[in-house]
Amino acid sequence: MELLQKLLCPVSMVLFVLLFSSPNVASSSVEEANGLLKWKETLQNANSSVLRTWIHIPNNGSGTSASSPCQWFGVSCNAEGRITSSLPLVYLDLSYNEFSGNIPPEIGLLTNLETLHLINNQLNGSIPREIGQLKPLSELALCNNYLTGPIPSSLGNLTNLVSLYLYQNQLSGSIPEEMGNLTNLEFVYMDTNNLTGPIPSTFGNLNRLTLLNLFDNKLSGSIPNEFGYLKSIVHLDLSENQLSSSIPASFGNLSELTHVFLRSNNLSGPIPQEFRNLENLILLELNGLMHPVNSTDMKDLDPRHHSRCDPSGGYGGEP
Ligand SMILES: *[C@@H]1O[C@H](CO)[C@@H](O)[C@H](O)[C@H]1NC(C)=O
Ligand SMILES: *[C@@H]1O[C@H](CO)[C@@H](O)[C@H](O)[C@H]1NC(C)=O
Ligand SMILES: *[C@@H]1O[C@H](CO)[C@@H](O)[C@H](O)[C@H]1NC(C)=O
Ligand SMILES: *[C@@H]1O[C@H](CO)[C@@H](O)[C@H](O)[C@H]1NC(C)=O
Ligand SMILES: *[C@@H]1O[C@H](CO)[C@@H](O)[C@H](O)[C@H]1NC(C)=O
Ligand SMILES: *[C@@H]1O[C@H](CO)[C@@H](O)[C@H](O)[C@H]1NC(C)=O
Ligand SMILES: *[C@@H]1O[C@H](CO)[C@@H](O)[C@H](O)[C@H]1NC(C)=O
Ligand SMILES: *[C@@H]1O[C@H](CO)[C@@H](O)[C@H](O)[C@H]1NC(C)=O
Ligand SMILES: *[C@@H]1O[C@H](CO)[C@@H](O)[C@H](O)[C@H]1NC(C)=O
Repeated sequence: MELLQKLLCPVSMVLFVLLFSSPNVASSSVEEANGLLKWKETLQNANSSVLRTWIHIPNNGSGTSASSPCQWFGVSCNAEGRITSSLPLVYLDLSYNEFSGNIPPEIGLLTNLETLHLINNQLNGSIPREIGQLKPLSELALCNNYLTGPIPSSLGNLTNLVSLYLYQNQLSGSIPEEMGNLTNLEFVYMDTNNLTGPIPSTFGNLNRLTLLNLFDNKLSGSIPNEFGYLKSIVHLDLSENQLSSSIPASFGNLSELTHVFLRSNNLSGPIPQEFRNLENLILLELNGLMHPVNSTDMKDLDPRHHSRCDPSGGYGGEP
């Protein structure tokens, strides 16, 4: 019954087809494979379902066996492997599988990963600091799990990261200032957690940042003046926190900004005059009051619409 449900799960089916149509491969990093196998041992649910393809590689490695990790469920390897026959695991997606258990430190062995999706499972425990070893990672999606503990400062080592989806967990502690080193970041979703402390001023370094969702946390302190350096920001949602003092005038520099949500904070003072410079601004939501800049453009006001657990949506699933 359960197996049948798994097989009928459309997302899994799509992945299954995608991944198993990849070319047969002879060799692949044994260390990477062992990292995955170790993880499999700790995942509950693992046997009954999709991970039955994750089995030990024969050590004589003769020929193309069905157990090549590049053919495992949710895994795919670098296409260059067809030529070089070295096959780094670049893609791991175990989303929507109801896995429970932790993300183990061995995740750090998958040092070629570019994409890691563990969306919509029941993973608990904290994000291991070893995740900082995945240097090529450009997309990390852990949204919709039960992850607790802090965001590890080692995340600041993932300088190739473009998209980060951590929302709808129970992450706590403050946002590491090392994240300011991630200058390739474009999409950051850390909303709906239990994060505390200030928004690091180092975020001002993120000059490619297009979307920042930090709503529904317990962030405090003032909005950093350095936000004025977020030259690419289009969508900013800081609502439902405990941010105080006034909105920095440096916001006037954010010429790409279209949507700003600051509702349910403890902000004071006037809306800075510099907002007049924001030619693209469509909506400013502040203290429960909408400030439509151009009411004919007001639509889609629910900020939560902008945070679906759907990295493939690119712009975060905005319709
Ligand atoms: C998984 O399957 C293996 C071999 O089929 C078995 O030895 C092991 O006990 C199973 N583990 C769980 C958690 O069911
Ligand atoms: C590996 O070697 C064993 C015996 O030496 C053999 O039975 C087995 O078929 C081999 N595996 C592969 C995948 O060739
Ligand atoms: C994770 O959940 C499992 C039950 O699903 C529980 O046994 C375990 O203690 C939890 N671990 C943590 C770190 O919360
Ligand atoms: C980042 O990487 C460097 C070099 O690999 C290492 O020394 C440092 O400890 C890492 N930082 C964190 C916070 O893990
Ligand atoms: C990363 O950021 C921290 C704190 O903002 C800083 O001390 C550190 O030098 C940075 N590391 C690199 C490699 O830029
Ligand atoms: C959130 O943090 C507060 C205190 O910082 C704590 O009391 C509460 O249990 C946390 N909630 C969750 C869901 O972790
Ligand atoms: C904002 O722009 C003004 C003038 O262009 C510049 O002097 C100032 O440094 C900028 N401030 C920030 C925080 O970007
Ligand atoms: C909100 O700000 C006012 C003064 O600016 C302060 O007195 C009050 O304690 C703050 N409330 C919270 C919940 O931080
Ligand atoms: C409001 O937006 C519409 C469509 O984007 C545009 O045609 C109109 O000129 C704008 N009105 C003002 C007052 O900016």
